[in-house]
Amino acid sequence: MRKFYVTGSSKGLGQAITELLLEETDVDVTGISRTNSLEHTRFTHIPFDLEDVDNLAGIADRLFTHHPGFEEVVLINNAGYLGDIQYVGDLDHQEFIKVMNVNITAPAILINAFIRNLRDYEGKKVIINIGSGAGRHPYDGWSAYCTSKAAIDMISEVADMETGIRGIDFRIVSLAPGPVDTGMQDIVRSTPIENFSQINRFIALKESGQLPTVHETAMKILSFIDRIDEFEGPVQDIRKIPV
Ligand SMILES: NC(=O)c1ccc[n+]([C@@H]2O[C@H](COP(=O)([O-])OP(=O)(O)OC[C@H]3O[C@@H](n4cnc5c(N)ncnc54)[C@H](OP(=O)(O)O)[C@@H]3O)[C@@H](O)[C@H]2O)c1
Repeated sequence: MRKFYVTGSSKGLGQAITELLLEETDVDVTGISRTNSLEHTRFTHIPFDLEDVDNLAGIADRLFTHHPGFEEVVLINNAGYLGDIQYVGDLDHQEFIKVMNVNITAPAILINAFIRNLRDYEGKKVIINIGSGAGRHPYDGWSAYCTSKAAIDMISEVADMETGIRGIDFRIVSLAPGPVDTGMQDIVRSTPIENFSQINRFIALKESGQLPTVHETAMKILSFIDRIDEFEGPVQDIRKIPV
């Protein structure tokens, strides 16, 4: 059996990843999100608001304790929040904190707890942090989101380096999925142009049918995880992976 933990399992990409995983007979999934959309005998849902990082720090070590009989344990830090699209100077301070909590502080706590609790576990250990092209290139109006996604790349690089130095066999990757047709893209397309100068490019992507479905991207992500040993380095982009 393989064990997967998926944050943001209720909607968008995380829901598609979880549904595809549950089609496999040897997979057990724990999903973490505020709401739930899935029922399955091999799926457990933990209702949790990842904005609440103080409480997450209190429970995170208890999440990853027992994996008897599993030959692989995978954490997918997928939950993400775009936040209000506003230029710096016009940002709501609380909104900035919320984006940081959901997109980098909560994943960092889960990464820390996962490595602490599984370092002596002998099966395959994988952490996939869903990054973004927005963490690698600036987009106006997206300062909080871009900053948080740049940070998820960096913690992936540092944790990968540290587990290498210690000789602990974890695989840690920040994986950018490329644009995907989810609620997050709906929000991008409804932004006023004065808050996001590239909005017409995103509208054109959808109207021309070039925005991949969650199913297409989830298939690529799961294929990447299955073949992870073929790809070197902690920062990856699914669009550059041959499938
Ligand atoms: N869509 C794109 O074009 C795109 C491009 C690049 C990267 N990404 C990244 O891909 C990942 C998935 O994005 P998506 O497009 O699928 O987003 P989405 O459709 O908006 O879904 C977001 C998921 O995250 C969960 N979530 C959000 N805030 C949460 C919170 N405070 N506590 C717990 N869970 C929370 C939501 O669950 P609840 O609402 O039930 O809590 C939901 O399941 C994100 O990391 C995103 O940054 C997306």
